[in-house]
Amino acid sequence: MTRMRITTMTPGEAELPDVDMSTDLAGAALPSPVLTASGCAAAGRELDQFMDVTALGAVVTKSIMLKPRSGRPTPRMAETPSGMLNSIGLQGPGIDSFLETDLAWLRTRGARAVVSIAGGTVDEFAKLAQRLRNVDGVTAVEVNISCPNVEDRGQVFACAAAPASAVVAAVRRATAPGIPVLAKLSPDVTDIVEIAQAVVAAGADGLSMINTLLGMAIDTDTMRPALAGVTGGLSGPAIRPVAVRCVWQVHQALPDVPILGMGGIRTGLDALEFVLAGASAVSVGTAVFNDPSAPARIARELQRALGDRGFERFADAVGYAHRAEPES
Ligand SMILES: Cc1cc2nc3c(=O)[nH]c(=O)nc-3n(C[C@H](O)[C@H](O)[C@H](O)COP(=O)(O)O)c2cc1C
Repeated sequence: MTRMRITTMTPGEAELPDVDMSTDLAGAALPSPVLTASGCAAAGRELDQFMDVTALGAVVTKSIMLKPRSGRPTPRMAETPSGMLNSIGLQGPGIDSFLETDLAWLRTRGARAVVSIAGGTVDEFAKLAQRLRNVDGVTAVEVNISCPNVEDRGQVFACAAAPASAVVAAVRRATAPGIPVLAKLSPDVTDIVEIAQAVVAAGADGLSMINTLLGMAIDTDTMRPALAGVTGGLSGPAIRPVAVRCVWQVHQALPDVPILGMGGIRTGLDALEFVLAGASAVSVGTAVFNDPSAPARIARELQRALGDRGFERFADAVGYAHRAEPES
């Protein structure tokens, strides 16, 4: 059966400059540096009506937990200036169903999958990694450490070096040697470089950054919090300068550690900012909600922007903004 695609090409696509857009993300060879962001495109099946998901660097799947979860109460979304707040609360089908349906679909479709995992204890993270160990079609594992640690008063793993490292070390041990483990960092910390150094020392092969920032909105009609969960994660263009700053600081401190950059990317030039700051690939999240073909468009725009600036290889632009100005 042939399937109709709503948008895959723009008129200028045939004239894209010849730039090698392949990238190496912590050992994973990707044909494109543009990926989806966890939680913003499920497992890619719905997106595939709007763009060819096999052309993406990879689909980063919604964080999966051991057991099915219904998430937090509604309302779970609120619009904010240049962004949105969400308190979805890791709703999902659990690892068994994920492996049987979502991952199986991605494999059959021929798309690369970065599987995001989330847990409430170090042991849960390790069990999830173990379940992925001998499964085909896992390009990398992304560890969502922005979760409350149920064994430590709900403190978020990502916000302190010791618990963040404990999770990453356990996942690294349980993951097959050739599969990269990416630790996803939270910007809600005093010193993101300290956390980055700790998780890399614990075995992370690369870093995804950034997760949402903790925010809140109050509905001035009801005079109550706009989200049933009270607080939520802020995403979208509003957080881009924070995300670019995080990528910049971490790349400066750890120039050899690959970074998957994200936070408010809506255009190819937004993506280019992350690349110049040090990202070896980028994820597109919130932008997908109002433009489901955004990752494909952003990839084309990024290729054009690189060509316009004289780059023949995407890889040559990674971290370019850190280079010293030539002496005049
Ligand atoms: C509705 C929604 C759900 C999300 N779910 C997850 C998730 O399950 N796991 C995760 O690591 N990040 C999750 N995120 C964070 C995104 O992956 C991304 O890090 C963040 O939104 C910043 O990128 P953006 O501004 O392009 O959306 C979610 C974001 C949104 C908006």
